[in-house]
Amino acid sequence: MENNTKLANGFKTFILNLLKKKSPDEIIETAKNSELKKTLNAFDLIMLGIGAVIGTGIFTIIGIAMVGEQGTHGAGPAVVISMVIAMFACLFSALCYSEFASMIPAAGSVYTYTYVTMGEFMAWIIGWILMLEYAISNITVACSWTGYFMEFLKGFSHILPNWLVNPPIWLINDYRTAVSVYQNMGLDPSVEIPKIFGIIPFCINLPAILLMFIITILLIQGIKESTKAATILVFVKLFVILLFIFAGAFYVAPENWVPFSPNGIKGVLSGAFLIFFAYVGVDAVSSAAEETKNPQKSLPIGIIGTLIVCTIVYTGTALVLSGMVPLDKINILAPITAAMNSVGLYKIGGLIAVGALAGLTSVLLVYQLGTTRILYAMARDNFLPKSFQKIHKKHGTPHIVTWAAGIVVIIGALFMDLKISAELCDFGTFANFMIICIAVLILRKTDPNRPRPFKVPFVPLFPILGIILCGGLMLHGFMTLGISAVLFPVWIILGAIIYFAYGYQNHRRFENNKKDAI
Ligand code: ALA
Repeated sequence: MENNTKLANGFKTFILNLLKKKSPDEIIETAKNSELKKTLNAFDLIMLGIGAVIGTGIFTIIGIAMVGEQGTHGAGPAVVISMVIAMFACLFSALCYSEFASMIPAAGSVYTYTYVTMGEFMAWIIGWILMLEYAISNITVACSWTGYFMEFLKGFSHILPNWLVNPPIWLINDYRTAVSVYQNMGLDPSVEIPKIFGIIPFCINLPAILLMFIITILLIQGIKESTKAATILVFVKLFVILLFIFAGAFYVAPENWVPFSPNGIKGVLSGAFLIFFAYVGVDAVSSAAEETKNPQKSLPIGIIGTLIVCTIVYTGTALVLSGMVPLDKINILAPITAAMNSVGLYKIGGLIAVGALAGLTSVLLVYQLGTTRILYAMARDNFLPKSFQKIHKKHGTPHIVTWAAGIVVIIGALFMDLKISAELCDFGTFANFMIICIAVLILRKTDPNRPRPFKVPFVPLFPILGIILCGGLMLHGFMTLGISAVLFPVWIILGAIIYFAYGYQNHRRFENNKKDAI
């Protein structure tokens, strides 16, 4: 009997711990005293946002979304409608992000906001899912970077040595991609790919891995230095995308827009799921909240401003691309550069390859930054080892966590391909976007009087629309996709196991020590 009561009490404490919330005031206070340097303004944030958003989605994935691949339906020219659907899915969530980020300007993004509204366990799971959005998506971006880099080097084949311009496929790709490239070339992968000890096939995306090393070192130098670098890269990529839109507009043949939607609603929805990747990162702005000078004003401007600029650029690009090139001639790997080459504008095509490299580099930079700040916030809550909280004495950046995030991408780039990591990232981002909408609804009920420098208009309608749009696209993904639809739940289960095996215990130990100290 006594044992049963003990067990019941233990279980009750366990559940209460899982639901334990953090007070927003405590978070705001910690953020105020944080050692992170507060240097960013609204303009820096928009640059950071565009740096995070315009990348692989518009330079590579747009082609797959239009044509379709591996059983998914392509949207055709109607990809522009897919983009608008994806934009709305983002817009409602972006408004919710703005409300939270201006109310609780602390590192950790949706992880922190979930902690305040839904408690410890959900916060951990969301933090874990955020790793999909940031670190795993960087695998996609790094793979796509290598592709454009190799295209770029080919432009200098007359002066560069052949081993640099045409390295072995296994030295610039992950295993799955290398196999399919060799097969497409009519070669036998088992003969071409070298084997360690004669049994383990060895493929490595060397350019992506070297780039990740450089980016990690840059991020450790300091956030202002990183955003300065991102700002230059952002201007370069905006310039080449606008160049594409204005130069390409002269080559649009309206007959290419017919049929507009070859696979009907199925194609449009599959396109929206995939092209959503192009908008991923709008929320990255909020992860720099703790390093922002005037967060109440700057954060909403940064987030909404980013979304507006990107939507204009994306729809323009989609209309021009689908008008320039017949659907069956769209190049899936580098559609924008190939479109320019197809009308004989080779120099512009080359420039666009350079811009794409700049764009992808800035995405990598901002995402690694986001990853480190979320891990930092989770470590500060004692769910991760204490060393993750260490700040570099000279540079004022969390250097250990920055290395950890870099190594995750480097290892991931060895095993994952571009499409699967992009789909996984989309699943994770949809989940986070839904949670942020739910969190706004909860906090409006539980803490209605807290000052909200920015408020989502039309509550509860807007958050509910965000939940419906993101949930609907996620459901469509589950019904139509293969490997990624399985890997996503596996990722969540893995996160729960790590939490129960380490995070839960470590956090309790810290809580008990704190109590003892009092
Ligand atoms: N939105 C980012 C990109 O398109 C992830 O690369």
